[in-house]
Amino acid sequence: LTEELQSVLLSVQAMDDRPELQLPHLYNALSLLHVTLGEGSWVGLYCSTGSELLLGPFQGTPACERIAFGKGVVGACFSRGETIAVPDVHQFPGYICCDEAAASEICVPIKSGNKTLAILDIDLPYKYDYTEEISLFEKIANRLASFIE
Ligand code: SME
Repeated sequence: LTEELQSVLLSVQAMDDRPELQLPHLYNALSLLHVTLGEGSWVGLYCSTGSELLLGPFQGTPACERIAFGKGVVGACFSRGETIAVPDVHQFPGYICCDEAAASEICVPIKSGNKTLAILDIDLPYKYDYTEEISLFEKIANRLASFIE
């Protein structure tokens, strides 16, 4: 998926910095990722309220609305403040299943400085080793931060 994600990265980097377009850019970036990752993928944000993580904008089937810090892949990603790639969701202790179709997942923190604002959460309907894509997802997440700060 590296070529496809490279192209998503170029598109999100090309989005302008007009303050009134931050949310439209964010929504389009999520749509672009979803279309790029294909049918059956889930792409969205879990946003920190300061005491838990709440479902934010997303593309895909309905999902869990609240996740406690430290719980599931999303909550673990928030608590650790670093990317977690899960090639097979059934191997992740405490995995929270929102959709039976999800088979692999990657969560990437979206940070402003060293504060995590939200988690970019991606599910794919097949097992997948994200190793080659981690840095691309992190660059995309870094760009998304500029739309939610
Ligand atoms: N699987 C996640 C929950 C969120 S859904 O994937 C959209 C988790 O274990 O935290």
